[in-house]
This record gives sequence, C-alpha cells and structure tokens, in this order.
Amino acid sequence: TQVLEWDLWSVSPEELELPHRARDAHKGSFGRVCILGGSVGYTGAPVLSAMAAVRSGAGLVSLEVPAPIWPVVAGKLEVAMPRPLPAGKDGALSLDSCEAALNRVNSSDVALIGPGLGRNNSTAAVVRHILAHTERPLVLDADGINALEGHIDVLDARRGFATVLTPHDGEFARLGGDLSSGDRLGVARAFAAEHGCVLVLKGHRTITAFPDGNAYVNTTGNPGMAKGGSGDILAGMIVSLMAQGLTIRQAVPAAVCLHGQAGDLAAEEFGEYSMSPTDLIHKIPLTTKHF
Ligand code: APR
Ligand code: MG
Repeated sequence: TQVLEWDLWSVSPEELELPHRARDAHKGSFGRVCILGGSVGYTGAPVLSAMAAVRSGAGLVSLEVPAPIWPVVAGKLEVAMPRPLPAGKDGALSLDSCEAALNRVNSSDVALIGPGLGRNNSTAAVVRHILAHTERPLVLDADGINALEGHIDVLDARRGFATVLTPHDGEFARLGGDLSSGDRLGVARAFAAEHGCVLVLKGHRTITAFPDGNAYVNTTGNPGMAKGGSGDILAGMIVSLMAQGLTIRQAVPAAVCLHGQAGDLAAEEFGEYSMSPTDLIHKIPLTTKHF
C-alpha cells in the first residue's frame, strides 16, 4: 500500500485534477449538491458548507434545513437554494422529514449530511433513514456522523455505495475508532477497510483512507484553522468536487489539500490568531483559479 505525501506544490498536475470547464458548459455540467444540516443554535454551519461548495465549483447547491431556521438561513444565502423541511416543536427535524429529505437527496448527484444538524434523536433517525434508503454518494460530517453512534451497521449496509466520513477525533471515537495507540494512519486505514467507506480523519495532517488500503497524508493547513466552522467548509468542498465528476479518489484528497491551502493563505494575510473560517472561504478562489 502506497502512502503519498500530498502537497499541492510538490504534487504533479496529473495527480491533482479539477474538472475541465468546457466553454459551452452549463450549470448541469457541474453537478447538483444537496446539503442537509442546520438546527436552532447552528444556523452558520450549513451556510459555511454551502458557500464553500459554491466557491469550489458545484453547478447547483441546495440547502435543506429545519423549517424554523429557514428564514434565517435564506437571509444569509444568496448563492445557494435554501429549502425548509418539517420540524417538531423543539425546532429539530422530525420523522415527518424522512421522505422529503430522502427525495431531495435522491434528486441530487451527491449529498452532504450533518453540518449543524444537532444531536436530537428524531433528527438522527432521519439521517439513518436516508443512509438506509439512498444509493447516492454521501458525505457525512459532524452530527451526520454522530447519528451512527451505536448504529455502525447502517454504515456497513452501504458497502458498495460511496460514503465519505469526515470525523474529528471526538466524532471518530463515537464511531468506535480507537486512537489510543497513536497510530492514526494505521487505525484510519483499518477503519476504512472494515466499513467499506472513505475516512477523512481530520486534524494536523489530515488522513484520507480508502477501503482498498490506500491513504493520503495532507501537508497543508495550520492551527489558525482550529476554529469552529473550518470543518463545515471542508465538508462543502469535498461534496462540491465529488459532484463535478471527479472520481472519489481524486475529489477527496484534492478537497483536503485545497482546504488547507486556503487556510494557509488566510493565515498569511490575517495571521493564525485572527483568521476566520469566512476568510478561508474567501481564499478558495486563489487555490482554484489556475486550474
Ligand atoms: N493544522 C491543520 N489543520 C487543522 C488544525 C491544525 N492544527 N486544526 C484544525 N484543522 C482543520 C482540521 O483538519 C479540519 O479540517 O480544521 C478543520 C476543523 O474541523 P472540525 O474539527 O470538524 O471543527 P468544526 O466543525 O469546524 O468546529 C467544531 O465540531 O465537535 C464539533 O460540535 C462541535 O461545532 C463543533 C465543531
Ligand atoms: Mg466539524
């Protein structure tokens, strides 16, 4: 098994590829992304994911949020389509959302589930319903991952369909990941192989592990990115590149690499203390414009 050092500046152009934008292309050429996220208290996370998806080239981005926060999300977003889903009295997605949410996932090319979704039980059940019933490629982040705590069988049943998980260490532990040995690379590779998924184990030197044993170690990024919101942006970038027709093998390490590079550009301008996740989004164009 090959472990590649992934660094934009040392990787040859044929390894990091973004889709060609033909002169006669239209928005349908670059994929439909669906993002399911948000809850009362977390209105920013899904918006950051959606902004990052647009900045990374996706043709159409829709954002599916619980109805009570829809007005707030719609007010923040001009470049993506926010749509409401049924919620309970507590403001979280209710079981009534199962079919509508599944339909919206099924009418997109790839879906991101989780940013800011919250840890409500019925919301987690909606997430598992989608996982059990869609064949669409999925990216699970944050509470999309937390919904699998104690239900790893739902992930295993998707073997054969593309599933990308993007946990930080805490979320990985909820999936049963044990990092106590300190061997992050070995543990990540074993998890991806065992569960038939792509695992993006985030942090300093994010690891992307594929079920066949191949893994990438990212070398871009900096501790200025250790701020709430950075992860939501990465998830949006991954789903965006996946929607544009790259293979999953190309899209995921490329998104991780570009995300870190955008973070490094933000740190150059604003410093690690003051850079914000929004600054990182504004640097995405500098990482993609030469393609
Ligand atoms: N070096 C390089 N990259 C880093 C570093 C570092 N020292 N620290 C963090 N990053 C990157 C990670 O690789 C990852 O891509 O920043 C991103 C952080 O993502 P998350 O850990 O998912 O954080 P985020 O979701 O933005 O915010 C915290 O996670 O625990 C939950 O609910 C909690 O809302 C909170 C959220
Ligand atoms: Mg996160």
